[in-house]
Amino acid sequence: MTQVKNDAIKFAYWVPNVSGGLVVSNIKQRTDWSYDYNVKLAQTAENSGFEYALTQIRFTAGYNAENQHESVSFSHGILAKTEKLKVIAAILPGPWKPALAAKQLATIDHLTNGRIAINVVSGWFRGEFDAIGEEWPEHDQRYARSEEFIRALKGVWTQDNFSFDGKFYQFKDYTLSPKPIQKPHIEIFQGGSSRAARDMASRVSDWYFTNGNTPEELKKQIDDIREKAKANNHDVKVGVNAFIIARDTEEEAKAVLQEIIDGANVEAVKAFGDATKEAGAATAEGEGNWAKSTFEDLVQYNDGFRTNLIGTPQQIAERIVELKSVGVDLILSGFLHFIEEVEYFGEKVLSLVRELEAAQQNQITAKSA
Ligand SMILES: Cc1cc2nc3c(=O)[nH]c(=O)nc-3n(C[C@H](O)[C@H](O)[C@H](O)COP(=O)(O)O)c2cc1C
Repeated sequence: MTQVKNDAIKFAYWVPNVSGGLVVSNIKQRTDWSYDYNVKLAQTAENSGFEYALTQIRFTAGYNAENQHESVSFSHGILAKTEKLKVIAAILPGPWKPALAAKQLATIDHLTNGRIAINVVSGWFRGEFDAIGEEWPEHDQRYARSEEFIRALKGVWTQDNFSFDGKFYQFKDYTLSPKPIQKPHIEIFQGGSSRAARDMASRVSDWYFTNGNTPEELKKQIDDIREKAKANNHDVKVGVNAFIIARDTEEEAKAVLQEIIDGANVEAVKAFGDATKEAGAATAEGEGNWAKSTFEDLVQYNDGFRTNLIGTPQQIAERIVELKSVGVDLILSGFLHFIEEVEYFGEKVLSLVRELEAAQQNQITAKSA
């Protein structure tokens, strides 16, 4: 296989740790949320060129996901059975306090030779918060809390005698020992794309995850974040969600998409659409995840069809390289039948992406020679 360069686009997949797969549809799926299935999937993914896996945090059924395994323990379970994969555990400030998260993740970092990461989720699902007795701060306050959460994590992970006097969290002379293996600290991802989310990314997060979208719309978000991050002297990388349907012909791939949409669980999609109004749509700017989503978009619950990685391996590889050219660093992928499609993706698509990247690199080198 072609040599992977440092700036090679990276690949992550969604861990199906909740039932129902990644689409809110009654289409038959050979994806399973069990531990055994997920171990096999993780091993297949790391051997197919995927560097990251992202678990989901969900306390109650939403968008069809009747059953949900907890994200941190599930991440550790996957790490225990893999060798290279980095697993990103999703955590909600609120149920988690930064002291617990910092300690828990530092221990997992030691148990797994530095392969845990965190996705700080700010929350959009009010019904879930009500169900578990968590208060529901308004949208921008949720991000203010997440930002303090991240600052506290970084402080605890990197400093002795850490003190912090925030609105939401306080630390007094706290020393975590042992500190994580990863330096300077465990990688911190965040989800969300409202103005508050972008501002937070430009100040504190290592990675910004956003819902699926077109290269043009993604470019607007990325330019905004990178400009603000530069002013803050901060570096942030960008990951975008995509539901990938790679088939030998374009017709086959499009037919699968149509079948997924035709089989949509209409009631669950509508309920999900209502719940997402608490996300970026609730802000004065009205910007953010799901703010412009149609019914069809919502059938994949992070707008994954919008990224349009649906077609032949060649079409998909070319679109991935286009996403890279607007500043995307990582593709977060979902699949209908995970194990077999991750394998197909690694064999047919990822290798083509590496070839296209190498050809681009050669062109740049030739021009500058
Ligand atoms: C890639 C990605 C992963 C996410 N994972 C979760 C999750 O596991 N659980 C959850 O409740 N919300 C999750 N979210 C939701 C976000 O954390 C955030 O609450 C939501 O996108 C609203 O963002 P906005 O208000 O900034 O538009 C995820 C979002 C993205 C983009």
